Amino acid sequence: MIKKNIGIIGCGSISHIYITNLSSMFENTNVYAICDLDDSKTKDISEKYGIKKIMTFEEMLKDEKIDLILNLTTPDAHYSICKAALLAGKHTYVEKPLSLTYENANELVLIAASKNLLLGSAPDTFLGAGITKCQQIINEGIIGEPIAATAYMMCHGHESWHPSPDFYYQPGGGPMFDMGPYYLTALINLVGPVKKVMGMTKKSFKKRTITSKEKNGEIIDVNVMTHVNGIMSFENGAIGNIIMSFDVWGHHLPRIEIHGTKGSLQVPDPNTFDGEILLKIGQGDFEKIDYALPYSENSRGVGISELINCIDKEIIPKCDGNKAAHVVELMEGFHKSAIEQKVITVNSTF
Ligand SMILES: NC(=O)c1ccc[n+]([C@@H]2O[C@H](COP(=O)([O-])OP(=O)(O)OC[C@H]3O[C@@H](n4cnc5c(N)ncnc54)[C@H](O)[C@@H]3O)[C@@H](O)[C@H]2O)c1
Repeated sequence: MIKKNIGIIGCGSISHIYITNLSSMFENTNVYAICDLDDSKTKDISEKYGIKKIMTFEEMLKDEKIDLILNLTTPDAHYSICKAALLAGKHTYVEKPLSLTYENANELVLIAASKNLLLGSAPDTFLGAGITKCQQIINEGIIGEPIAATAYMMCHGHESWHPSPDFYYQPGGGPMFDMGPYYLTALINLVGPVKKVMGMTKKSFKKRTITSKEKNGEIIDVNVMTHVNGIMSFENGAIGNIIMSFDVWGHHLPRIEIHGTKGSLQVPDPNTFDGEILLKIGQGDFEKIDYALPYSENSRGVGISELINCIDKEIIPKCDGNKAAHVVELMEGFHKSAIEQKVITVNSTF
């Protein structure tokens, strides 16, 4: 199999697992070059993984050997970098969220289509063993028609472990734009597109103190809502509830549950590739489902490999930008609904 050359922009925390997997897990991916504004990051990555080509972004865009740009920068840079990559004729894959606004996300989708390029976006965790198994259970009709879904991710933020957690409290961060893509991507793949949303939001703490090692004691000004509560009406009639929070110290709520006309399904953590699946049919008890499917370990990058397989074929990649744009519209919709105090109609679908 001919490998496609990947130019990675953004050599921070998440780049390590991508570089490891893209260099060893898939037959069609080759990490060709790296780029970062911070020279110490590229030096570190180059030495650790033996990637010799360190380039500027402009050099990457001009290099005809690069087939795909992998954008692992912070969310505020996602749109402009993806746009430049697509306009330069490169297939593009970006960490979540695709953009900070639906308008920008949709523009990227349209540019990619007009240039006959593929645009993909994380997360690809829903291609892992756990959610794939849940998808099979739902597709086989085991829980009947989905009628309701819940998704809860509540914690006290990332400042206790991330070396530079500032961006989590700036636009494009916050619990919904940071963690929402995992939960919403899982939900829309399991239940389908959403047609209406409502939301209520809250910022419980105006400042955050970093307690991770590198910037210990630094104070972050919080410029996003840190507790976001949303309601969704799916196109198939199901109703969903979602809470994404950086304000909560602990809870006992399940991460995702899908409730159908015949039974209920507890879905594993969508920020992982496997995990426990519980199934309850009618009045029976919840029972653990045994399963063994590919991509049960941390397989970040599987979406890129799958997207590369779709190049030059009339196949829509599973981590398609259009689906990611739908997720951005939902996340934006929860916040917009909270401000405007009304139900928001969703324009995008897939
Ligand atoms: N850290 C995680 O565990 C994790 C997990 C899943 C997804 N993500 C997502 O991955 C993305 C990156 O997160 P991270 O934790 O690696 O952040 P990070 O801050 O550790 O790294 C981001 C890197 O991008 C570089 N960068 C920013 N703008 C740039 C530009 N214009 N040109 C070149 N380089 C630029 C920065 O210098 C930095 O090295 C975010 O979208 C985040 O949501 C992170």
